This record gives sequence, structure tokens and C-alpha cells, in this order.
Amino acid sequence: MIALYILLGLAGIILLIAIADLTQKKNTIRRNFPVMGNIRFLFIALGPAIRQYFIASNRDELPFNRSQRNWIKSSSKKENNYEGFGTDKDLYHPGHIFVNPKMFPFKVSEDHINNEMNDPYFIPCAKVIGKAHNRKHPFRPYSIVNISAMSYGSLSANAHTALNTGASMVGCYHNTGEGGLSPYHQKGADVVFHIGTGYFGCGKTGEDGKRYFDFDTFQKLVLDKYPGKVKAIEIKLSQGAKPGKGGVLPAKKNTKEIAGIRGVTPHTDVLSPTYHTAFSNVREMVDFIEELAEKSGLPVGIKSAVGDLTQWYELADIMKNENKGPDFITVDGGEGGTGAAPPSFADHVALPWVFGFTEIYNVFKEKDLCNDIVFGGSGKLGFPSEVLKAFAMGVDFINIAREAMLSIGCIQAQECHTGHCPTGIATQNKWLQRGLDPALKAIRFGNYINSLRKETLQMTHACGYEHPCQMKMGDIDISCGDNNKVVTLEKTYNYQKSEIPFDSMETFFNCEYLGGLGKESNKLIKKKTA
Ligand SMILES: Cc1cc2nc3c(=O)[nH]c(=O)nc-3n(C[C@H](O)[C@H](O)[C@H](O)COP(=O)(O)O)c2cc1C
Repeated sequence: MIALYILLGLAGIILLIAIADLTQKKNTIRRNFPVMGNIRFLFIALGPAIRQYFIASNRDELPFNRSQRNWIKSSSKKENNYEGFGTDKDLYHPGHIFVNPKMFPFKVSEDHINNEMNDPYFIPCAKVIGKAHNRKHPFRPYSIVNISAMSYGSLSANAHTALNTGASMVGCYHNTGEGGLSPYHQKGADVVFHIGTGYFGCGKTGEDGKRYFDFDTFQKLVLDKYPGKVKAIEIKLSQGAKPGKGGVLPAKKNTKEIAGIRGVTPHTDVLSPTYHTAFSNVREMVDFIEELAEKSGLPVGIKSAVGDLTQWYELADIMKNENKGPDFITVDGGEGGTGAAPPSFADHVALPWVFGFTEIYNVFKEKDLCNDIVFGGSGKLGFPSEVLKAFAMGVDFINIAREAMLSIGCIQAQECHTGHCPTGIATQNKWLQRGLDPALKAIRFGNYINSLRKETLQMTHACGYEHPCQMKMGDIDISCGDNNKVVTLEKTYNYQKSEIPFDSMETFFNCEYLGGLGKESNKLIKKKTA
């Protein structure tokens, strides 16, 4: 009898779906093939998950393939992150890089700071940000790998709490992203404050409805809130995933808390425009940078994707002639991530990292300015071989965004733009955030950073060097798919990196401008962790 009722109930549901399909006009397939037409939508929805879990091979997927995700995941859990039986990567594939080891690696003496018994994770930046322009508070990042710009709003409170707490354990800095300095960016880590075109947390809305930078607001909402911990300012000109494209924070996401942090009216649409109001050309930008650095005492840098070089040459001219301008330049690759961007921008606007960085580095190299600028890079660089390649090309620090997310549980569901992130990372949904335990994930993030730095250092030692800044373009080969066409980065990209003055790790450890953990030890050393 019960079975009959169930059958009748199911038949009723199918009948209702059929009537709904036949009478609606929005979808032709459902109208022409009632009930059955819906199965197509089910398959479309399940397709990505089925491909990811059952069909795609270890090296198939983008942005991050399974091998890369697994390496981050096992590193973050301190599980075995080795591979058995040999590589499953096609070493003959064009673009594959080969790091060239020396016959005799760098010998890490027993009393060396990076000896296993001391701190095998310690790799500070080889350059001091702001030193070349005599800023009042120069800054040597404690870690060559740090958290890239992601706003509170784009990522959840729990995600930022996990990242900031983890960063404070291993000495990274945390870039705020353009949404202002939230309480979740203040859990102990150094902060780089990011200024976008909306001037959130550092600006005001004018009578014309546009947003304008305001130093007093910046002082109140940023510098006074986290004294001594805001180490530098990054002005975003553009990001690789959407150069020349602004963004909107919709009214329903603009809660009282978020509005307070950003310094805007709650429950209204908030626009992040495509251009800055503080400057509109290179000359004005340099003047703005100088004024900001003078008033705050902090080093000021820019973040940008790369395309046309005309204005970069103009910037290099001004910097050479006046010894003014950005203390650091972060080059973001076109393959970079975003909370949300139109595919036309993400796929086509701006050069990928390797090409973009090459262009920018050479603009400044022509003027012999490379050692006055600290170069940053972002765009899928959170893996040891990528870090080494970037350093061989001239980078001084790396920023990572999605790799950091993967280390705290992101499953690459690619739902950041919908607000339905199932892992509680890129969402403001309280229920979804509940699943993310910030205390546990902080340790996971810290473990991943430690593994990344340790393996980078081990590869550096294999190349005969003490610090990755000593890597040269000739230390890395790149495959063009034929044995005669495996050439060094130097030949491929046609430049040599400017040599960076380097004394020893010890000197960096004793540097008065060292941020992060300073003289304290890495909090995750020899601790029983997750
Ligand atoms: C969820 C999310 C939010 C982001 N928000 C910002 C932002 O506010 N400002 C910015 O300059 N870049 C932003 N980015 C870009 C990252 O900072 C970074 O430049 C880019 O993702 C490349 O790094 P990755 O390959 O390690 O992810 C965001 C990226 C993600 C994934």
C-alpha cells in the first residue's frame, strides 16, 4: 500500500514538472521535451565535479591540477608530500622547466640558521623595501612568500582569521586587498595595506558620488587601528584577471560591519571604479606615492598587470631622473585569480606572468634601476620550482592568493563569484563559514608556507646557493619540445638578471628592518601539528 502511495506521489510530481515545462516560455528544450529536458541541466551541473573526481588525470585541470592541489594539501597537513615511482609529468612538453643543480650543493653548516636543527624555513627578502628612497620605516619582509591581496568581503571572516593567524606563526605578511583593514587582518601578522580605486578604509565619497583618497581617514581606519603592523602600502593599478575593470559590492553584501571597515554607507551598492581619482597619469602617480610615503613614513608600491609599455618607460624615466616613485612593483600575471571577472578579461586582457615580468624587468634594467626596486610576482607561483624560476628572473618576493586558499581547504569549486563557496572561504554565508575552523586552518596555512619555503631552499642549495636571490637566468632551462631547443631562461627571454648584493642569511636575520617574527622562532617548528 505504502509503495502505491509513493508511486502515485512520484507520478504527481512528474506531472507537475511536465505541466510547468510545457507552459513556461523561457526555455525551449524544456518546452519541447518536458521532464526529460531537465536531465540535461542536472548533467551540466554535475559535469565539473564528475570530470574533476573521476575523469581528469593528475595533470589535466586548470587553474590548478590535481598534483598541484595534492602537494599543497599534503604539505598543509604535514602528510607525506612525496611522489612514488617517478614523475607523471611530461618532461618533454614545451615550456617545462629544468632547474640546473651544481655538482656540489651549498653546504649548510651545523651552526647555519637554515640547518635542520635551527630553522630550515627562514628565507627573508634579500632587499629592504623603501631603503633606496630613504623612507622613514623601511621594511624587510621576513618571508619571501606572502599572502596576496584579497578583501574581507571577497573572503570570509573565518578564512582571513585563519590566514592571518597562520601568517603570524610563520612570519608572512598579509595583504588586505582593496576592501580595507578588517579585524580579521589583525590577528598578529604584518600587513600590507592595499589601495584600490574605491579607496576603501582610506577615502571618502565626494558630493559627485565619486570616491576620493583621504589621508585622515587612512590614519584613523588603518594606521591607528594596527599600530606598527602596517608595514607598507600597495596601490593597485590593475590585477591580472581583470585589468581596467572595476567591481561592485552589491547592497545585500554591504553589511553594517563591511560598510564600517570600508568607510561607506551600509546596504547600498558600492562601486570600485576602473580608474583612480588620486592621479590620472604617471607624473601625478609618482607625486601621490611620494606624498603618501612622506606622510605615513611607509614604503609605497604599485601592483599591476602588464600590457602596453609606454607609461612604464615614462615611470622609469622619472624614477631615474628624480630618485622618486614606487619602492616595490608587484607584477600580476594574466593567469591570476579573482573573486569575479568577465571571462573575456580573465582570458585575454594582460600578459601571463612570465612574459609580463620579463617586459617590466627590462624596462627598469635599461635604466639600471633594478636594485632600487623590490620586485614582487603573483600568478600561480606558489610552488617551489615556480618560486625558483621567478627568483632566477629577478623577483624578490612572491604573493600567493589561491594557493593560500587551497591550503585552508579550497576545493577549486570555482564558486567565488556566486557567494556559495562550499568550503566557507569565498563566501559571507554564516552556515558555510561555520565549517571552517580558523584555529586548525591557521596551522594548515603555516605548514604549507613552511613546506614551500623549505623545499625552495633545498632546491636553492642544490643549485649551490644560500639564498634564492642568488639564482641566475642560466640556472634554469626551459624546454621548447626538442633536445636542441632546451635553452636557459637567459637565452629564452634575452636578458640577464641584475646581481643582487648578498652577504649571508645571518646578516638578514640581524637586520634592524626585519619584519614578521624578527628574532622569535617559527611557531610551527617541532610542534605536533594538525
Ligand atoms: C578571491 C580573490 C580575491 C582577490 N581580490 C583581489 C583584490 O582585492 N585586489 C587585487 O589586487 N587582487 C585581488 N586578487 C588577485 C590576487 O591578489 C592575485 O594577484 C592573483 O590571484 C594571482 O595570485 P595566485 O595565482 O596565487 O592566485 C584576488 C584573487 C582572489 C582569488
